[in-house]
Amino acid sequence: MPSAVTEPKVTEPLYPAYLPTRPEGYSLTVNVPPFEQVEPGTRADPAKPEIFTPDAKIKNITPRIGAEIHGVQLSQLSKEGLDQVALFAAERGVLVFRDQDFKDIGFARQREIVSHYGPLHQHPSMGYPKGTSSEFHVIYADEKVGSIRDVIGPKTSYELWHIDQTFTHNTPSTTFFWVLETPSDGGGDTAFTSITEAYKALSPTFRERLHGLTCTHSNVDAIEITRRGYDRVMKEEVKADHPLIIEHPVTKEPAIFINLTAIKSINGMKPSESDLILNFLNDHIRSLDFSCRCKWEPGTVVIWDQRTVAHSAIPDYAPGSRRHMVRIAPYGSEPKAAPLKQEDVSRE
Ligand SMILES: [Fe+2]
Repeated sequence: MPSAVTEPKVTEPLYPAYLPTRPEGYSLTVNVPPFEQVEPGTRADPAKPEIFTPDAKIKNITPRIGAEIHGVQLSQLSKEGLDQVALFAAERGVLVFRDQDFKDIGFARQREIVSHYGPLHQHPSMGYPKGTSSEFHVIYADEKVGSIRDVIGPKTSYELWHIDQTFTHNTPSTTFFWVLETPSDGGGDTAFTSITEAYKALSPTFRERLHGLTCTHSNVDAIEITRRGYDRVMKEEVKADHPLIIEHPVTKEPAIFINLTAIKSINGMKPSESDLILNFLNDHIRSLDFSCRCKWEPGTVVIWDQRTVAHSAIPDYAPGSRRHMVRIAPYGSEPKAAPLKQEDVSRE
């Protein structure tokens, strides 16, 4: 006999205190004036003694990107230990800390820890837990609100490589992202790709052409124009110019600062010239040669450096699944142009 058709079961979130709220609705994007920011990674002990302890188990996700860490509790680190996290994230791009108590230490302590890395980005539209502020970015999907797929609409792929919120002079740096609840049938990994390793894969001839180029990063996008109207969006535009090839402020490694969610063109180029280079670079950085995906487990906290890696959500979970995450992003220093090193232009 065929089994009876049953309605999808409506379940309750494991962490209701973290449900997204936004009583004030949409706010203007904060146009943060440029400021001097000392990068915590620059003052870290290179041996990272609070991370590489006798109890820690640390392995690279691939030789080129990422590290997974067991046996280190982020909430117990000293200020020096937090500096070491910044250095490690700058070097490896993305750090996956397992078995953390971070989600249970309270909003004030979470805010205090991430504020160690810089002033916190305030999101203009994402919801935040009641009693906190727009410094907390809640990413939430369930059977009622749907997922990012519903927001974006029909597409053949939802891969969207980007760097968060790059349209201000200072840009996000050592970003914290932690999980509260994962889809019951799996999925919802987050993908990262090394924009440092992607740079190294380019020929010296092509690298040479990219150095010296700049792009204007803007918060104006199609969704905002639909929501608020063209005239108002343009009047409230927040934008900043950044080099296309930046020098990482801690490692001094060159990186391709490509973010097509904010960049519309390369300054000084005609649209077809600019599109050719930007689309090539956006396609280039997604290679499996320098990317990885991070699987979320209960207690996982992922920390990434937005000047070493770009990222993409993977909304592959079943429709109606609950996925509940929180992000806090501090501002780092202003991206600086990477000098073209002699070894980059030497021909083989
Ligand atoms: Fe993002």
